[in-house]
Amino acid sequence: TFVVTENCIKCKHGDCVPVCPADAFHEGPNFLVINPEECIDCGLCEPECPVNAIFQEDEVPEDQQVFIAINEELSTQWPVITEKCEPPADADDWADVDNKLLLLER
Ligand code: SF4
Ligand code: F3S
Repeated sequence: TFVVTENCIKCKHGDCVPVCPADAFHEGPNFLVINPEECIDCGLCEPECPVNAIFQEDEVPEDQQVFIAINEELSTQWPVITEKCEPPADADDWADVDNKLLLLER
Protein backbone atom coordinates (compact mmCIF):
# COMPACT_ATOMS: atom_id res chain seq x y z
CA THR A 1 0.00 0.00 0.00
CA PHE A 2 0.92 3.65 -0.28
CA VAL A 3 0.83 5.96 2.75
CA VAL A 4 0.10 9.68 3.15
CA THR A 5 2.57 11.30 5.57
CA GLU A 6 2.99 14.48 7.58
CA ASN A 7 3.59 16.92 4.75
CA CYS A 8 -0.07 16.58 3.68
CA ILE A 9 -1.31 18.04 6.98
CA LYS A 10 -2.66 21.57 6.34
CA CYS A 11 -1.48 21.36 2.70
CA LYS A 12 -4.09 18.90 1.42
CA HIS A 13 -3.58 19.77 -2.24
CA GLY A 14 -5.78 16.92 -3.45
CA ASP A 15 -3.91 16.32 -6.72
CA CYS A 16 -3.48 12.71 -5.63
CA VAL A 17 -7.21 11.97 -5.46
CA PRO A 18 -8.47 11.97 -9.07
CA VAL A 19 -5.70 9.68 -10.36
CA CYS A 20 -6.55 6.86 -7.96
CA PRO A 21 -8.27 4.01 -9.82
CA ALA A 22 -9.23 2.30 -6.54
CA ASP A 23 -11.03 5.18 -4.76
CA ALA A 24 -8.66 4.57 -1.87
CA PHE A 25 -8.47 8.14 -0.52
CA HIS A 26 -10.44 9.28 2.52
CA GLU A 27 -10.82 12.91 3.56
CA GLY A 28 -10.48 14.48 6.97
CA PRO A 29 -10.60 18.16 7.99
CA ASN A 30 -6.97 18.97 7.11
CA PHE A 31 -5.40 15.71 5.85
CA LEU A 32 -6.10 12.81 3.52
CA VAL A 33 -5.31 9.15 4.10
CA ILE A 34 -5.09 6.04 1.91
CA ASN A 35 -7.10 2.95 2.80
CA PRO A 36 -4.64 0.03 2.78
CA GLU A 37 -7.53 -2.37 2.11
CA GLU A 38 -8.36 -0.55 -1.15
CA CYS A 39 -4.97 0.57 -2.46
CA ILE A 40 -3.81 -1.61 -5.38
CA ASP A 41 -0.23 -0.31 -5.29
CA CYS A 42 -0.41 1.28 -8.72
CA GLY A 43 1.84 4.16 -7.61
CA LEU A 44 -0.02 6.78 -9.67
CA CYS A 45 -0.68 9.09 -6.72
CA GLU A 46 2.92 9.41 -5.49
CA PRO A 47 4.27 11.74 -8.21
CA GLU A 48 1.10 13.89 -8.16
CA CYS A 49 1.70 15.28 -4.67
CA PRO A 50 3.37 18.71 -4.88
CA VAL A 51 4.77 18.34 -1.35
CA ASN A 52 5.94 14.72 -1.69
CA ALA A 53 3.74 13.44 1.12
CA ILE A 54 3.04 10.00 -0.40
CA PHE A 55 5.35 7.00 -0.04
CA GLN A 56 5.14 3.30 -0.68
CA GLU A 57 4.80 1.57 2.69
CA ASP A 58 8.29 0.04 2.42
CA GLU A 59 9.83 3.45 1.73
CA VAL A 60 8.16 5.54 4.43
CA PRO A 61 10.97 7.50 6.16
CA GLU A 62 11.92 6.44 9.68
CA ASP A 63 10.39 9.52 11.32
CA GLN A 64 7.11 9.05 9.43
CA GLN A 65 6.43 5.42 10.33
CA VAL A 66 3.59 6.41 12.68
CA PHE A 67 1.59 7.42 9.61
CA ILE A 68 1.22 3.81 8.48
CA ALA A 69 -1.11 3.18 11.43
CA ILE A 70 -2.73 6.62 11.08
CA ASN A 71 -3.73 5.91 7.46
CA GLU A 72 -5.09 2.52 8.48
CA GLU A 73 -7.08 3.92 11.40
CA LEU A 74 -8.49 7.11 9.90
CA SER A 75 -9.48 5.49 6.61
CA THR A 76 -12.05 3.48 8.57
CA GLN A 77 -13.49 6.71 10.03
CA TRP A 78 -13.36 9.30 7.26
CA PRO A 79 -15.47 9.39 4.05
CA VAL A 80 -14.12 8.41 0.64
CA ILE A 81 -13.05 11.29 -1.62
CA THR A 82 -12.87 10.77 -5.39
CA GLU A 83 -12.55 14.29 -6.77
CA LYS A 84 -9.85 16.87 -6.17
CA CYS A 85 -10.49 19.02 -3.10
CA GLU A 86 -9.67 22.73 -2.85
CA PRO A 87 -6.49 23.15 -0.81
CA PRO A 88 -6.57 25.56 2.14
CA ALA A 89 -5.74 29.15 1.10
CA ASP A 90 -2.55 29.05 3.20
CA ALA A 91 -1.44 25.58 2.01
CA ASP A 92 1.87 26.87 0.63
CA ASP A 93 2.82 28.35 4.00
CA TRP A 94 2.66 24.87 5.56
CA ALA A 95 4.78 22.93 3.07
CA ASP A 96 7.76 21.29 4.78
CA VAL A 97 6.87 22.65 8.24
CA ASP A 98 8.00 20.14 10.90
CA ASN A 99 5.91 18.55 13.63
CA LYS A 100 2.58 19.06 11.91
CA LEU A 101 1.29 15.83 13.45
CA LEU A 102 0.27 17.96 16.45
CA LEU A 103 -2.04 19.89 14.10
CA LEU A 104 -3.83 16.87 12.63
CA GLU A 105 -7.59 17.32 13.06
CA ARG A 106 -9.62 14.14 13.37
FE1 SF4 B 1 -4.68 4.85 -5.34
FE2 SF4 B 1 -2.70 3.76 -6.72
FE3 SF4 B 1 -2.19 5.65 -4.88
FE4 SF4 B 1 -2.96 3.22 -4.11
S1 SF4 B 1 -1.06 3.73 -5.18
S2 SF4 B 1 -3.76 5.16 -3.32
S3 SF4 B 1 -4.40 2.65 -5.76
S4 SF4 B 1 -3.34 5.92 -6.80
FE1 F3S C 1 -2.06 15.62 0.52
FE2 F3S C 1 -0.34 15.67 -1.42
FE3 F3S C 1 -2.65 14.53 -1.80
S1 F3S C 1 -0.74 17.32 0.01
S2 F3S C 1 -4.01 15.69 -0.51
S3 F3S C 1 -1.10 13.88 -0.38
S4 F3S C 1 -1.57 15.78 -3.25
